[in-house]
Amino acid sequence: MSINTVAINRQMSHFDSHASVWLFGYGSIIFKADFPYLERRPAHITGWARRFWQGSHDHRGTAEAPGRVVTLVPQADAVCAGMAYLITPEVFAHLDHREKNGYLRLVTQIDFGDGEKAEGLIYIASEENAAFAGPASELDIARQIARAAGPSGRNSEYLLMLAQALRELGTEDAHVFEIEKHLLQLEREAGVVSLPGHQHLQKTQG
Ligand code: SIN
Repeated sequence: MSINTVAINRQMSHFDSHASVWLFGYGSIIFKADFPYLERRPAHITGWARRFWQGSHDHRGTAEAPGRVVTLVPQADAVCAGMAYLITPEVFAHLDHREKNGYLRLVTQIDFGDGEKAEGLIYIASEENAAFAGPASELDIARQIARAAGPSGRNSEYLLMLAQALRELGTEDAHVFEIEKHLLQLEREAGVVSLPGHQHLQKTQG
């Protein structure tokens, strides 16, 4: 089940008078910046935990076989590392379309880790949205990801690219890395190799 959030996001007027706005990315926005930006900086937000709890019917899965992508869930002591982009307000039309399957813009405090902070935006898919898949064990999430693919590519590629991007940021994310470990094991058992940014290969004998 999915919902289109474009119209709701378009009504958000919080940064209307601003020439530029910080956007904090914690999922595909970290590794797939298919939009123009003025500046990009590693950053983190507090009080939110990254979880593969959002269903993907439009990018990494289909209506019949949804994939799973990340959203944020409130957790008082959590620190979520990601990438912040300084963008101009026109860019939101593209982002609202890209994140339309349940994600709403939310104002949040972004911390650049060097004493500097800024008010900015995240796209978040809350548990009320129709595409919310909710909690499951890391193994079950990996099983669902291993099977799913959609117009943006295989769900496994999303997971592996996110895990790689988090390592490049020098961040530990036990949830993501545990799912990655299970996925790689499932793929080994199935004789499949998924490499970030590459095709899904079926291993041949010899
Ligand atoms: C984000 O990356 O910040 C939002 C979730 C996603 O598009 O993967």
